[in-house]
This record gives sequence, C-alpha cells and structure tokens, in this order.
Amino acid sequence: MSIAEAIRPDLEPLFAEADAAVRVGNFPAGREGYARILEADPDSIGARVGLEFVAYVETGRKSRFNLPIEPIPERLHLARLENERSNEAEYQARRTRLLSFPSTLTLEHTTRCNFYCRHCSKGYEPYVGADLPRDLLDKVLDSLLPHAIRADITGFGEPTIGSEYGHLLERLVEAGVAPKFNTNASTLTLPHIELLVRAQGQITLSIDGATRETFEGIRAGGNWDRLMYTLHAVQRVRSIYQTAGWWGVTFVATRKNIHELPEMVRLVKRFGFDQLLAQDYQPFDVSFDTESLRGEPERANRFLDESESLARELGVELITPVRYIRGAPSPVEALIKKLLSTKRVLPKRGRFPQGCSHPWREARVNYRGEVNPCCFSWRKLGDIKERPFHKIWNGWRYRLFRWRIHTLFPPPECRLCHGFDGINRGNPGNTKLQEGILLKVLYRLEGLLERVFARRGAKVERPNYFLGKHWDPEEGTARPVPK
Ligand SMILES: C[S@@+](CC[C@H](N)C(=O)[O-])C[C@H]1O[C@@H](n2cnc3c(N)ncnc32)[C@H](O)[C@@H]1O
Ligand code: SF4
Repeated sequence: MSIAEAIRPDLEPLFAEADAAVRVGNFPAGREGYARILEADPDSIGARVGLEFVAYVETGRKSRFNLPIEPIPERLHLARLENERSNEAEYQARRTRLLSFPSTLTLEHTTRCNFYCRHCSKGYEPYVGADLPRDLLDKVLDSLLPHAIRADITGFGEPTIGSEYGHLLERLVEAGVAPKFNTNASTLTLPHIELLVRAQGQITLSIDGATRETFEGIRAGGNWDRLMYTLHAVQRVRSIYQTAGWWGVTFVATRKNIHELPEMVRLVKRFGFDQLLAQDYQPFDVSFDTESLRGEPERANRFLDESESLARELGVELITPVRYIRGAPSPVEALIKKLLSTKRVLPKRGRFPQGCSHPWREARVNYRGEVNPCCFSWRKLGDIKERPFHKIWNGWRYRLFRWRIHTLFPPPECRLCHGFDGINRGNPGNTKLQEGILLKVLYRLEGLLERVFARRGAKVERPNYFLGKHWDPEEGTARPVPK
C-alpha cells in the first residue's frame, strides 16, 4: 500500500473532532481524541503530531516562532490593494514607467542550501553561499513592505536556513505581509508550521518523488521519514486553524520520476494540499540533463495525461507543462544537430503562448542587494547599496527590460524561462523550436557580448559552499565528488 492510499476513512471524523476541540482551546478533549485514534491505529503519525501540538500549546509555546500576529490597519490594507490594482492596470497597458510599486516583494536572503539535489546546480558545482546582511535587508524591507501584499523569499538557496530568516519572518508578520516561499521542508517543525499557517503563508514544498527511493535519490540530503512527519504536521495544523493560507507541492518532472506523478496526485489529495505543480526540468549542461523529458516526449505526455485525468477525478488542482513536441532535440545533442533540426529561418509569429507580468508586479533583490527582474534572471537592474529602490524601479534598465520582454526578441533569460507565468508557459523547449536560425544566431552573439562585458571589471566571488556544507578549497580539502 502506498503512502497516498494509507488513509483510514473511519478515523477521519475522529480527527475532525479532535482538531475542532483544539481550535476552540479544549485541549483535554483534543488530547483524548488523538489518543483514541492512536489506540485504533498505533502507526498514525497524524495522531502523534496532534498530541505533540497539544503539549506544545499547553506548556506555553516556548519557541522563537511564537510571534504575535496583529490585524493590520484598514487604511494600510486598502492602500496596498489599490497599489496592486493600478499595478495590474499598468501591466495591461504595457507601461514601462510605473506609478505603482511591486505588489510582491521578492527577496533572496540566502544562497546557501543544506541539500544538493540531482536536478539542481548545487548537486554539481561549488557555489557562493552567502546571506544578505541585516542592514541591507532592513533597507529593502523599509522601501517595499508598505506596498507589498506578499513577500516571496525564495532564492537560489533554502530560505529557511538563512541567517536572517527569523528577523525577516518577524518583520513580515509585524507588517501583515504574507510570507511566500518554496522550501525543501527539512527544517519545518511544528511551531514553525504553526506560525506560517497563522500568518497565512503561501508555502510550496518541493517533493520530487512519491516513494522513499525516488525522493531520496533525487533530493540528496532529504529524508523520507522526516518528510512524512512534515506532511502530517502541515495537514494537522492547517486543519486545526483553518486559516486562509495556501500550501502547494512542486515536482520537477524528469525521466527518473515521471512515472510517480499519478502517485503524487494521490499524495497531494491525501494531505489536502491546494495545488500540485509539475515543472519541466531546466537543463544546465550536466550529466543529469539526459533525464530531461524533452528526450522522451511520448512517455512524458502519457504520464502527464494520465495524471491530469486522475487529478480531475480526485478534484486536485494539477498544473503541467505544455505537452512536449515530438522530435524536440534533446538538450545534450550537439549544436549542429540543433541547427539542422531548425527548419525555419525567421521566428514564428506569436510563438510565445502568453505575456509575463513579473517585471511589473515584482522586484527581486538578491543576496548582494542587487535588483533583478525576477527569480529566473540574474540581470542587474540596479543596486540597493547605491540607489534608492524607486529610482531603480523606473531607471532605464528596468524600462528597457519591460519593453523588450514582449518583442520578438525577448531577453535571453526569458527565452529559457520555465516558469508557468513566464512567456513560455513552462515549456521553453517548445518556443525555442519555433524561433528560427536568425534569432538563434542573434542570441549567440548577445551571449558572447555579455560574457565579454561581464568579465571586464567583474568582481569574482570565490565559491565557498558545496554539497550542502561550507567548503574551502584552500584548506586542502579535496573537492567531494557527487555520487
Ligand atoms: C532553487 S529551489 C530553492 C528553494 C528550495 N531550496 C527548494 O528546493 O524548494 C527553487 C525550486 O527550483 C526547483 N529547481 C531546482 N533545479 C531545477 C531545475 N534544473 N529545473 C527545474 N526546477 C528546478 C526546485 O525543485 C525548487 O522547487
Ligand atoms: S533543496 Fe535542492 S533544489 Fe532547493 S536549492 Fe537546495 S539543492 Fe537546490
């Protein structure tokens, strides 16, 4: 029996009763209810979590995550909604100089991660592991929090291990701004989950397998039992509080795990998540690229179709990439093969399935204090250390970016973007097939020019992190080899 099916419908009403008792503060009744479930099912992780939660509350919630959440003043709330509305209107009008501010603050406060997943560059290359210092963090928050409705704090690293994560959460909660992030879920304790639920967080758990073997095989550093505890804890605390937050799951689909996507749909249903997002794997010139579904379109499409019909049947919201085009060149095929497979010279008109509002509705500040247009682009549009944010937001770099993104020749990073709300609607492989040789050559030239300019005067930061740990090549430590 799979984990997703391991549910006892007869115990559901007992869970509902115990959770309701805890919700109204009747802890003895809650404790008794969970204990009864445990008697009926000694393996119930959900009941153990319930008992642990009652004990935590009754002993005075001793945790750094026990923060007060006050309602925000009506005037501030209305001003933020008005800003979001005019932000949307300015995007629809494709204005490049904006009166509105980003309604989403996007912040990369750390690049460090305790995992080294197979589908992530952290599984292969040493990298710069660093945190945004507190003074810069406060500067960003002071400029952007008054307008923001939510704060997406997902960056290159694992957000929950950043050195200023606690301070950041405190400031968000104090300002009434909902935290939003993707996490590998490895640090989510009960008090932590409780705070995120009470703060109406929009949290996405990254889970790339529905079985222990696949999950631990891809998410290096992850532990299946720990994950199971977390899934039960999230479900229990959400059921107790019933707040308006949002919890989803993301799954990077590859040849290694696509057969488990239907089981992921069941898992998402089992734990009551709001959405399952199946993402296309973004290749980056490593051996794992052979696992991309672009090399196996028929099999990929079959599992995507099967999962979609199962999701419809179970009432699960599933988002999948645009179906893979048959005969798409695999990312590891040589450049010459790619060029030969390109049948057209000029780009196909309307090859992008949709527009992208990221450069209008969000600004991303990275761990160095630089402003980028979104989480997929490292293009520096300004530096918060040198200029106030409002000047960067309407500076020439930002305006040029807003103009170019909806032309036939969008910025190179947008060309490769696999975000669902980006111009490729999650499948850059498809749009690249329709761009024609002329644009391919222009993108190559632009890449060359960018590399030349980037080298000039660029300060090179030395990688200091590898495979989930600090790493110093000068200490004589040999570079560990990923398995
Ligand atoms: C870079 S991670 C940072 C947040 C956090 N550490 C996590 O794993 O959720 C953000 C998201 O990017 C996804 N990701 C990493 N490498 C990817 C790739 N090559 N293609 C597509 N998605 C990828 C991860 O699975 C995760 O959901
Ligand atoms: S958890 Fe995995 S995907 Fe997320 S940043 Fe770390 S290594 Fe990359």
